[in-house]
Amino acid sequence: MNIFIETYGCQMNVADSELVSSILNDHDHNIVDDIDRADVIIFNTCSVRQHAEDRVIGRINNEMSRKQTKKQLKIGVIGCMAQRLGENLKDKNNGLDFVVGVDQYKKLPEIITNLFENPDFSSETIVNNKEVYEGLYPLHTGKFNAFVTIMRGCNNFCSYCIVPYTRGRERSRPVDAIIKEIHNVSSKGFKDVTLLGQNVNSYNYENVNFAELLRKANKIETVNRIRFVTSHPKDLSDEVIEVMANSEKVCEHLHLAMQSGDNEILKRMNRGYTAEHFYNIVQKLRQAMPQIAITTDIIAGFPGETEEQFQRTFDLMNKIKFDYAFTFKYSPRTGTKAAEYTDQVPEEIRLKRLQKLIDLQQEITLQKYQDQIGMTKKIYVEKISKKSKLEVAGKSRDFKITVFPGDKSLIGKFVKVKIVDAMGWTLRGEMI
Ligand code: SAH
Ligand code: SF4
Ligand code: F3S
Repeated sequence: MNIFIETYGCQMNVADSELVSSILNDHDHNIVDDIDRADVIIFNTCSVRQHAEDRVIGRINNEMSRKQTKKQLKIGVIGCMAQRLGENLKDKNNGLDFVVGVDQYKKLPEIITNLFENPDFSSETIVNNKEVYEGLYPLHTGKFNAFVTIMRGCNNFCSYCIVPYTRGRERSRPVDAIIKEIHNVSSKGFKDVTLLGQNVNSYNYENVNFAELLRKANKIETVNRIRFVTSHPKDLSDEVIEVMANSEKVCEHLHLAMQSGDNEILKRMNRGYTAEHFYNIVQKLRQAMPQIAITTDIIAGFPGETEEQFQRTFDLMNKIKFDYAFTFKYSPRTGTKAAEYTDQVPEEIRLKRLQKLIDLQQEITLQKYQDQIGMTKKIYVEKISKKSKLEVAGKSRDFKITVFPGDKSLIGKFVKVKIVDAMGWTLRGEMI
């Protein structure tokens, strides 16, 4: 069968789509990138905010119309929404053929085969808190950057977040398997590797912690760059900061979600750190790696957030000056603690606060990028630039997209470039 997968949500879902591709491929299915050729369409979905769910439900219903001309077509849902809503998804998407949760992907080939013989709706959403999909090699979609999943699930139960309910309990993959996988992908040509987990700083496998895993990864000769997402501020240790600073391959690039700058709100969010602690970590990181790029996530309008509390978030963002911030309007998720709070902030106030954060960050990002003019950076060239055939585009160690004059012979190479301009979120350089 030809199978088309459309992916929503975080990097974990991107990695899972690659895993699912590999499982299906091993069972003689073809993964296609043209939806018109598909016999089966799979939506890998996200539940993190209501908007994410609504969007994908709309998308699926759109694609259902294909069944009028292609009677054999099967459409299914996997990922966090599948886990959260299970069979109930059938009520939202009339004509849906299957729903498979995050721990049951090994069953997909069988489910698909059965569907063509016996076209009855099928659903597999049993939780398996031990499943880490050992022994499977994801079919990577990129050419230069590869995700390597080091753990699954989350135990933190931040009060707003649905992830611990959709992804189940935290479990770490064996060290040896991870190291082997990094060897494997880097020798295939993926020189930039990102280690993935909802909270990589709590990685622990038979007493190997995250710092030690980074040390081991740093010794792999075939890999050039190592990154990781996501870090939780409560678990980011001095040891990890030290390893980052002293490991040649670990990039000066960190995503560290702040969520709020107010201690009362952080407590209500169950984040396990204070604004002072967060600021302290940022200082330590910048002391250890002056060139580090730090990005963050912020939620505007969490239940009970007053104007003063919001102002503290705004002020702390303004003080820290992140390279980039992903800002979100709080979205109540059924089943989470924060959704039960009776002091929900009105929608229009949430929106207004969100807009303030977006405007602030836009200014900061522009300034941050302009501050890089004159610097020399090494760019991992990925492609010909979208805007001009005479230019190539790639990424720096601090994850900034950089374009500069050059041709296709540079693709896949590391090139030293001097930054001459900054436009929005792109740096412009010249080869030296
Ligand atoms: N494990 C990651 C986050 C995964 S979710 C971490 O802890 O860093 C990505 C981001 O979505 C979160 O950092 C948070 O800012 C946002 N988010 C999660 N639940 C949300 C909700 N209910 N409403 C709005 N934003 C939310
Ligand atoms: Fe959600 Fe918190 Fe876990 Fe991140 S650490 S996935 S925000 S519960
Ligand atoms: Fe979304 Fe699931 Fe990731 S809810 S953010 S796809 S873990």
